Amino acid sequence: MGRLPMLRKCSRRKCPSSNRVPPFNHPLSFSTRPAYLSRMGTLLQSNLPFPVRRGKVRDVYDLGDTLLIVATDRISAYDCIMPNGIPGKGKILTALSLFWFEKFARQFENHLIATKVPDYPEAVRPYAPELEGRSMLVKKARVIPIECVARGYLAGSGWKEYQRSQTVCGLSLPPGLRHCDKLPNPIFTPATKEENGHDLNISHEQTVDRIGHDLANQLRDRTLSLYAQAADFAASRGVIIADTKFEFGQLPGGNVILIDEVLTPDSSRFWPADEYSAGRDQASFDKQYVRNYLDSQIWDKTPPAPKLPMEVVHGTQQRYLEAHKKLTGRTLRL
Ligand SMILES: Nc1ncnc2c1ncn2[C@@H]1O[C@H](COP(=O)(O)OP(=O)(O)OP(=O)(O)O)[C@@H](O)[C@H]1O
Ligand SMILES: [Mg+2]
Repeated sequence: MGRLPMLRKCSRRKCPSSNRVPPFNHPLSFSTRPAYLSRMGTLLQSNLPFPVRRGKVRDVYDLGDTLLIVATDRISAYDCIMPNGIPGKGKILTALSLFWFEKFARQFENHLIATKVPDYPEAVRPYAPELEGRSMLVKKARVIPIECVARGYLAGSGWKEYQRSQTVCGLSLPPGLRHCDKLPNPIFTPATKEENGHDLNISHEQTVDRIGHDLANQLRDRTLSLYAQAADFAASRGVIIADTKFEFGQLPGGNVILIDEVLTPDSSRFWPADEYSAGRDQASFDKQYVRNYLDSQIWDKTPPAPKLPMEVVHGTQQRYLEAHKKLTGRTLRL
């Protein structure tokens, strides 16, 4: 269990006050909020009395045979966690991941066991207010330490590299591509999963060196197949999935399964198709909006990150909700 030694014991305590978001008059505010939620209904940290490993966004509880993943409302950008969260973001990410897990379930095994609190082990059911809508009970997997990225468009670090060397993650591309152009074919651009600091882009050959030929090929083929299907589906809903990242894990028997979150605005670039035009930045339903704000600030991209102003918090929430609505066709009540 590669990552489980990282689990730490946590005591049951309330959210530290430094994690609270200052009150503001927002439609999500509600007077009967439980104590661990901020005035805005933002959950920055869950607190269940089980060994926990906290990622940038998720609190992962070790329940013995299974894991309980709680998507908080934390948001990270440039690998730093922002001091304030986005109200309801964990619920939006969970709803979208569940939508895609369900869509792909027949063709590829995933880690889901249950998503409704009454179906969880008895010991965690009392914590329902912290769990409802934002948690998943999942199979414990050995995380394969490769971020499996598929890119269909030239954006972000890919565009920067292309301008320097006409490559993306070492893969040669045709000359003359513009910012945000569609690539001739989607490409697999794996990265390492670093415990600390930024993940590093690596070549397919380096992936083979790390995890072996068969597994590396399997991850590449799965990633490109999932991306192609998701991109086709999203296109029918007016959304371009410019790129996305999957994580895979191995069960004790060796089976490779899809884990973590799937095709959310945290793990993907989502662009509105009707506003798309190559050669410039795109409007987006994802974290790019937060990155743009941060780029406008004097900040060296190391912690502590600056606090997001109210309008950026609200704008991000609206974009995430819009992505969910466009892709699933459903309105999410937070
Ligand atoms: N089924 C699973 N079995 C084991 N680990 C899992 C499973 N699903 C997700 N995880 C791990 O749980 C963590 C989720 O937390 P989160 O997404 O906040 O982490 P992160 O900060 O993005 O990533 P990391 O901390 O790994 O850099 C990730 O480390 C992910 O690899
Ligand atoms: Mg993650």
